[in-house]
Amino acid sequence: MLQREKLVSALKGDFFKGNLVLLEEAASTNLTLKELAAKGAPEGTAVFCERQSAGRGRLGRSFHSPAGEGIYLSVLLRPRGELTQAAALTSLAGVCVAQAIEDVCGLAPGIKWVNDVQVGGKKVCGILIESVIENGVPAWLVLGIGINVNNDPSAFPPELQEVATSLRAEAGQPFERERLAAALLDRLEESYRGFPQNLPLIRQECRRRMVTLGQRVVIRSQEEGGVFLAEDIDEQFGLIVRDANGERQTLRSGEVSVRMAP
Ligand code: BTN
Repeated sequence: MLQREKLVSALKGDFFKGNLVLLEEAASTNLTLKELAAKGAPEGTAVFCERQSAGRGRLGRSFHSPAGEGIYLSVLLRPRGELTQAAALTSLAGVCVAQAIEDVCGLAPGIKWVNDVQVGGKKVCGILIESVIENGVPAWLVLGIGINVNNDPSAFPPELQEVATSLRAEAGQPFERERLAAALLDRLEESYRGFPQNLPLIRQECRRRMVTLGQRVVIRSQEEGGVFLAEDIDEQFGLIVRDANGERQTLRSGEVSVRMAP
């Protein structure tokens, strides 16, 4: 079980410190946090759990969440102004995860558009942002982050064997989850405090780490659509791709995902 004292003493910032919820098990921390938000939980509430029985991924997928090996975290945010900034916030979170992993584990993570964090070409982290609707309008954002920390990848389900890894496997040593969780919360706090003015900086860091750029990609929902060249990310963090005829289009994160072309 994540130890509260270790986590609190490693945390530098205050934003999340007073609102940490540590659970043994949840269906999904995103779901738990949505329920807490409906009961009046404050911004900055952060829910961790040891295992998820129904961890959720993007586009209706599940997220493999075995006990005691990963970080399964959801934080409650209420950005000023438009909540249509969800795509930008997911990218902000991807950058924060990559930086925290680099700080604590000494690895050099990349970002696969839209927000999978990878090490050695394989996924170590997924991010899922969901909004909470109140009186018909989005009132809160729940930012969910799942990181494979100390997993043995040979125990991953077959569909993840080729595409996912863990920090332990990549670094050849286990990591204290509390240290990584604290580094991540501190990075999130700092970036969120600077949001949205810091978006140009986030975009710059995102592009620097984006393993997708310059690569040939296939759009998963329309595989018959052929192969595209991933060129850049735009100011809303959409992926700009060019097809064989030189036609450009911009992909939005809520709609599609891409895989590297063979
Ligand atoms: C993806 O890879 O498609 C996104 C995965 C997001 C997983 C995290 S784990 C904590 C939070 N709770 C969930 O049910 N999902 C997110």
